[in-house]
Amino acid sequence: MAEAGKSPSRLRSRAWFDDPGNPDMTALYIERYMNYGLSLEELQSDRPIIGIAQTGSDLAPCNRHHLVLADRVKQGIRDAGGIPIEFPVHPIQETGKRPTAGLDRNLAYLSVVETLYGYPLDGVVLTIGCDKTTPACLMAAATVNIPAIALSVGPMLNGFHKGERTGSGTIVWKARRMLAAGEIDYKGFIELVASSAPSTGYCNTMGTATTMNSLAEALGMQLPGGAAIPAPYRDRQECAWATGRRIVEMVAADRKPSDIMTRAAFLNAIRVNSAIGGSTNAPIHLIAIARHMGVELDIADWEAHGHHVPLLVNLQPAGEYLGEDYYRAGGVPAVMGTLLRAGMLDGAAMTANGRTVADNYGAAAIEDERVIRPLDDALKPDAGLIVLSGNLFEAAVMKASVISQSFRDAYLSNPDDPEAFEGRAIVFDGPEDYHARIDDPALGIDAKSILVIRGAGPVGYPGGAEVVNMRPPAALIRAGVDALPCIGDGRQSGTSESPSILNAAPEAAVGGGLALLRTGDTIRIDLKRREANMLVDADELERRRAGLATVEADVTPASQTPWQEIQRGITGQFDTGAVLEPAVKYQRIAQT
Ligand code: FES
Ligand code: MG
Repeated sequence: MAEAGKSPSRLRSRAWFDDPGNPDMTALYIERYMNYGLSLEELQSDRPIIGIAQTGSDLAPCNRHHLVLADRVKQGIRDAGGIPIEFPVHPIQETGKRPTAGLDRNLAYLSVVETLYGYPLDGVVLTIGCDKTTPACLMAAATVNIPAIALSVGPMLNGFHKGERTGSGTIVWKARRMLAAGEIDYKGFIELVASSAPSTGYCNTMGTATTMNSLAEALGMQLPGGAAIPAPYRDRQECAWATGRRIVEMVAADRKPSDIMTRAAFLNAIRVNSAIGGSTNAPIHLIAIARHMGVELDIADWEAHGHHVPLLVNLQPAGEYLGEDYYRAGGVPAVMGTLLRAGMLDGAAMTANGRTVADNYGAAAIEDERVIRPLDDALKPDAGLIVLSGNLFEAAVMKASVISQSFRDAYLSNPDDPEAFEGRAIVFDGPEDYHARIDDPALGIDAKSILVIRGAGPVGYPGGAEVVNMRPPAALIRAGVDALPCIGDGRQSGTSESPSILNAAPEAAVGGGLALLRTGDTIRIDLKRREANMLVDADELERRRAGLATVEADVTPASQTPWQEIQRGITGQFDTGAVLEPAVKYQRIAQT
């Protein structure tokens, strides 16, 4: 399927391998690449050199299957006339990296930018999967802007235990309760949790990995249908081969990320995020990709374009099913086809296969309505985020659709003001402080308390901690209070039945309003007006601001590694993508 259109005047790799004006350097480059098995004929043949950005390794097991898939990608590249060169990407593994994998997204971004820019590559296949690997690769492709296509590693097979589905992450909460209740022992606990991960691949629930892989397809950066194929399926191998073939055609057509990742594509991705019940990490990553692409996208766009879209995908943790079910029900194409036919997507957006969203998804149907619901039987209306502001922060996000009926009954029952509630703030300075004190009776936590965690943002806990979903004290849980409203300048994994307000910016560590809050203050949340305020008078806030340096020190522990210190000095806040701010001015740098 050769693509009509523009073509590059000259492959950029020719500047290394065939530069008559610089024979010395050309000879040096050529002898080194011939040294591992490529021939002079190949290197000077006008065949595109295609990089494969390898994110899998023994340290990154979620993406490790890419080591196998890369062989099929290479065959595809060869079959289409290209020359593959595989290279490693700094490993990012969500659960294994201390203190947080969030720290490494921008580091991997930098390393991929340097690799794509500094080596003789005409195009690249980005191997994506585990949470941060997807945004890191797409951010780098945006900055460099050579032809690029993403290949998802795919989710794990469904986990089962005693006939019930066990999902990555979600099973941990259940297993903890069973261990605490004495229903299982330590060995049983490990077995139960491990049952959720029966094969290679990324987390099989709708966590950040499934979210970001789905959104990479919604953005147009993968082949249609490529996101949801489980890692071990044969279709995944075929997709790897087709992706290798396609990138060679993309180089011939000079199809760059800037042709695909337009504002229309980002707005499509925001709407798909609502329909799939995507992670609250998605706004951070999508805004980061957009900023490196030079596309205007801000936090207000999430509410303006995504709030009204209903939840269609019935995957854990919000629903019942897992990754294999999602694929069999039609995956991203079924979701996009459904939204497209309802006029909720921009069908003109271009995608990696050279066709538009309307061409690719116009006829895509739902194959199993238990797993992907039709619009007239959606799981929830208005499933997108709302964006709040006030004297606690300039921006924070909340999934309004997770507010449970029991919460509505307990907090939102005032007929004069049905969408507002007040509570007493209980303030924790970072995750360690929260774990140490949550069960301390002296805090006086009751059913009308609001739990607040600060010192968990991109500067305070370098990269940002996933800690805003805090459990109430054990005594309160025993009394029947399962969840309390939570506010924080950190991130959150999964979903919560309480209204969590997260990604608050600016964070306490840089003097945001949360730094002025004290335990015992009253917080008022008004969902209708999109406001969150501490009810503390201005003079008192002024006095507290004068003593702020102490709080900032409390919520910014010393850096443990050089990168922690460097990143802290140059990172932005969550509402603007938490990118390395000095990097943003470098845009489309491979263009001549
Ligand atoms: Fe890597 Fe979930 S921990 S995908
Ligand atoms: Mg996570």
